[in-house]
Amino acid sequence: MLDSFGRNIDYLRFSVTDRCDLRCRYCMPEKTSFSQKKDMLDLNQLKKLADVLIKVGIKKIRITGGEPFVRKDIISFLEYLFVYKKKQLLNEITLTTNGTLLEKYAEKLKHNGIERLNVSIDSLIPEKYSFITNGGILDNVLKGIDEAKKFGIRIKINVVLLKNFNEDEIISLINWSAKNGFNISFIEIMPLGEIKYSRDSQYIPVSVAKKIIENHYPLISCDYSTNGPSKYYKTKAFSSLIGFISPISNHFCESCNRIRITSNGILYSCLGHESATNLKISLEKNNIEEVERKIRNSIKKKPEKHFFNINEKDPAVKRFMSFTGG
Ligand code: 5AD
Ligand code: SF4
Repeated sequence: MLDSFGRNIDYLRFSVTDRCDLRCRYCMPEKTSFSQKKDMLDLNQLKKLADVLIKVGIKKIRITGGEPFVRKDIISFLEYLFVYKKKQLLNEITLTTNGTLLEKYAEKLKHNGIERLNVSIDSLIPEKYSFITNGGILDNVLKGIDEAKKFGIRIKINVVLLKNFNEDEIISLINWSAKNGFNISFIEIMPLGEIKYSRDSQYIPVSVAKKIIENHYPLISCDYSTNGPSKYYKTKAFSSLIGFISPISNHFCESCNRIRITSNGILYSCLGHESATNLKISLEKNNIEEVERKIRNSIKKKPEKHFFNINEKDPAVKRFMSFTGG
């Protein structure tokens, strides 16, 4: 379906829970309150929503959270979506995960049509990983990644660029990804939700990371795209690609093809705006026509762009990434 700026909206990021077993310091406050179960979409409502979204033209679904694998019925939902993929009504189903529970789920993912995964790792040093995630165990993630690799699932590593934290690991993260045959993306921090650190104090622009990388590996622009926001580069040294996601320094809103739905059934047509529509209310009334109307209306009204300003004291939007879905 086209929005009013002529963008074809065919990509849904579906957050199935706002809960997470980690507490990344840039993502959410240490003491955070999560949605109550009664406010979350149940499995049946997830399925009904998927039916309508596919009907209005969604072709790719990325399941996010929070952490999608803390939701117990996640595999049942993936099984449901896989039927659409087999009928070629969906082109792709992927997930973004922190990887802590991946070892347990990798085989089930493979059997349910998941061919690619994004795994978030901001440091490969166990102590630093534990610090940034507030207690996460890197080894569990690495075991999960190995297991997924064993089942032939392609992996992309997501790294949030964090000042005074991981600039010095950019090259080692790239080398490790290349050795394993994974692509890697570096992401600029976004001012989503209020945390105890100023966003400005955490922010590194993609240009700084590129400079560091170019000292080791000259970057060659390349056309590869996964229909997402990463701009990819090749190097002569290895076949893995290096991507950059620059929502702050060079936003990519003019080619945005995405909408987001939270685990509470709220549809946000833009990550950086408060405007939203509540689909759960309509699902509870079992008014599927209303759900469809609301989705079509939100797509039509999708804002032209976001206005993230990393220097501002207040966050661009109050909700955290873990709520809206990455
Ligand atoms: N800015 C940028 N990226 C973020 N993530 C979580 N919070 C933020 C933020 N404020 C990242 C996670 C994960 C992806 C889903 O989003 O690290 O890689
Ligand atoms: Fe959890 Fe991902 Fe947020 Fe970290 S960034 S707390 S892993 S949702």
